[in-house]
Amino acid sequence: MVDILDFQISDIFAPAPGVMGAAWLRASDLHHDVAIISTPEPGKSLHHYALGMESFDHLKVAADELARHGVPIETGPGRHGVGANLYTYFWVAGNRYELSAEMPRVRPGAPGMWDNFPKAFSPWGLTPPESFGHAS
Ligand SMILES: [Fe+2]
Repeated sequence: MVDILDFQISDIFAPAPGVMGAAWLRASDLHHDVAIISTPEPGKSLHHYALGMESFDHLKVAADELARHGVPIETGPGRHGVGANLYTYFWVAGNRYELSAEMPRVRPGAPGMWDNFPKAFSPWGLTPPESFGHAS
């Protein structure tokens, strides 16, 4: 994506030296337009789609609407360390979706490096459920 499509890497999660766990890439000035996350699950390739929300209030309205339709939240709301955006995740029709708000804009520069999953996931101290490791 960097070499052919001119994406820039905003952040890299490397849980051990030489191990690429995830990379967040941008084709705009948003922190990320695409994230690539490794999975040990054979045949699985999608962790989630993200839906851009206007604000935390918009995210709350969407979560209330999900509740009205009986769709449980998998995890959230919270704020990610990587990207610093607000998040809430849920599953519908076999795929995970993220409600995402407050995605920051970034300037060109060297990618940020992360090796601590809890801090990368949320500086608020939230941890995802075991199900969050699964993809579709
Ligand atoms: Fe996301």
